[in-house]
Amino acid sequence: MKLTHEEEAMLAGRAGRAAQKAMQILQALGTIYGAESMTPVTSVQVAGVSYDNLGEAGLQFLNEMAGGGGKARVLTTLNPAGMDIENWQALGIPETFAVQQMRVIEAFSRMGVQTTCTCTPYLVGNQPGRGEHIAWAESSAVCYANSVLGARSNREGGPSALAAALTGRTPKYGYHLNANRAPSVIAKVQCTLQGAYQFGALGKAIGERLQANAIKPLPYITGIPSASLEELKALCASLATYGGAAMFHIEGITPEASQTPLPEQHLEISAADLQAAIDSMNDAQPQEVDFVSLGCPHLTIEEIAHLARLLEGQRVVKEFWITTARPVKQLADQLGYTAVIEASGARFAADTCCVVAPIKGRFKVLATDSAKACYYAYAKNNFNTVFLPFEEVVRQALQ
Ligand code: F3S
Repeated sequence: MKLTHEEEAMLAGRAGRAAQKAMQILQALGTIYGAESMTPVTSVQVAGVSYDNLGEAGLQFLNEMAGGGGKARVLTTLNPAGMDIENWQALGIPETFAVQQMRVIEAFSRMGVQTTCTCTPYLVGNQPGRGEHIAWAESSAVCYANSVLGARSNREGGPSALAAALTGRTPKYGYHLNANRAPSVIAKVQCTLQGAYQFGALGKAIGERLQANAIKPLPYITGIPSASLEELKALCASLATYGGAAMFHIEGITPEASQTPLPEQHLEISAADLQAAIDSMNDAQPQEVDFVSLGCPHLTIEEIAHLARLLEGQRVVKEFWITTARPVKQLADQLGYTAVIEASGARFAADTCCVVAPIKGRFKVLATDSAKACYYAYAKNNFNTVFLPFEEVVRQALQ
């Protein structure tokens, strides 16, 4: 790989041990993927924050980087942690876990990382513009950045994203190059979609079709006349989960769709395909639900406002977590939504989510409107799932 003088200096250790280690990681990655050079990045989002996933070895790596003088050179935010940083006791998180989780957060903080703890960095000030090179790790957010914002990111791992933060660089390959942003297949949606729930089901239907036919996961989707931020957020999470997609185009909606060459291969998604995807995420009966969660990916303020209207004057009878970014929760506090929601007995779980929190064994059946949460509820926590629209998930908590 061709490196600039500054990059060579980092590699030689002249910018400290952490920057040297970071540049070694990036050089190795670039060599594996055939990058010819590095590119400067303007934004980083680091995943691998929950102590439940990191463990002691991961924490040790972070402390070594912080101890080696590591400092973020560009705007860097964090993915969700394993608990609500301020309210973990109320959510039943063990103290032994909380202590270790705080050590993780402190290590990131020492490196100048903004400890936002959210998978929707684009809602809290980390929103790169079109054409910007970035290094993000959270799969749903990478898909959102590439597809909806038109920024350019590979799906980084936790260490490579941190390495990008500490050097301000990432190897220039994959989605950083125009040629790799062209779609592989046209996905024709032949049914009407409504709400984040159905967009999540669509992501599963398309994603699994791509996987089954070994098609590169970069679809050009047609037949969707409009989509809200919340619907696109759900589609990104689901397509990334079930199809391994880091990018898609939607005709007439996403910024690069009108300029990209179209492929010949196509597939169709019918109403029956959508229903089959929905059915496959329901493997329990509603009366078995003992855990309810909304906010995968983290809720927007508009979703929280809607939730407050639904819960006003009601009383929930099941454990109900609302997961969102802390700055969004703080806005909800100011606008009075938090008081209404908490009066119902539902709990905010800011900074975390029902997937990365250490809750294996605590519940049996999760009700959610998130296709991604359905996948990980089973894969990580062994929960069965009831997959329902937003309003019906809320109803589950009330009965
Ligand atoms: Fe975010 Fe957790 Fe879902 S990180 S996308 S809420 S699994």
